[in-house]
Amino acid sequence: CTTQLAMLRKVSLLVGLLMWGTFSSLDKFVYVDKNLKAFVMSVEHVVFKFNEAQEDPFLYKVLRIWRSKRQFSTETYLIDLEMGRTMCKKQDDDLDNCLLQQEIGRRKVRCTYFVRTLEWITQFSIVNSTCDQI
Ligand SMILES: *[C@@H]1O[C@H](CO)[C@@H](O)[C@H](O)[C@H]1NC(C)=O
Repeated sequence: CTTQLAMLRKVSLLVGLLMWGTFSSLDKFVYVDKNLKAFVMSVEHVVFKFNEAQEDPFLYKVLRIWRSKRQFSTETYLIDLEMGRTMCKKQDDDLDNCLLQQEIGRRKVRCTYFVRTLEWITQFSIVNSTCDQI
């Protein structure tokens, strides 16, 4: 009987550890595929908001995604990206085909965004962000 009890203790300890492991991993920012639909949509949202907030008449577009991460417990994405200043103006709509500005300085920014998503209702909210000229 005592061995059974000891066994039970071990099992519950194991279950506890597993659950703790699962919950804490849900809470961590872990790598996510940058082609994941919700991530791609979050990036689009961030670029749109970035351009909207600029007084600059020229649009910025994504040059590179440095890091793509996700926190499962809150459906929050970490987007670490580099954007470049294009020759297209705000009224242009084909951003993907816009050529980059060639003059030196103030051409690129690197930003980290945290975006909370409710993908199924296409709702995205920027939790916080930081950007630096590079
Ligand atoms: C930005 O938000 C994320 C996600 O909630 C958080 O982990 C991070 O500490 C925040 N950063 C700042 C500078 O507030």
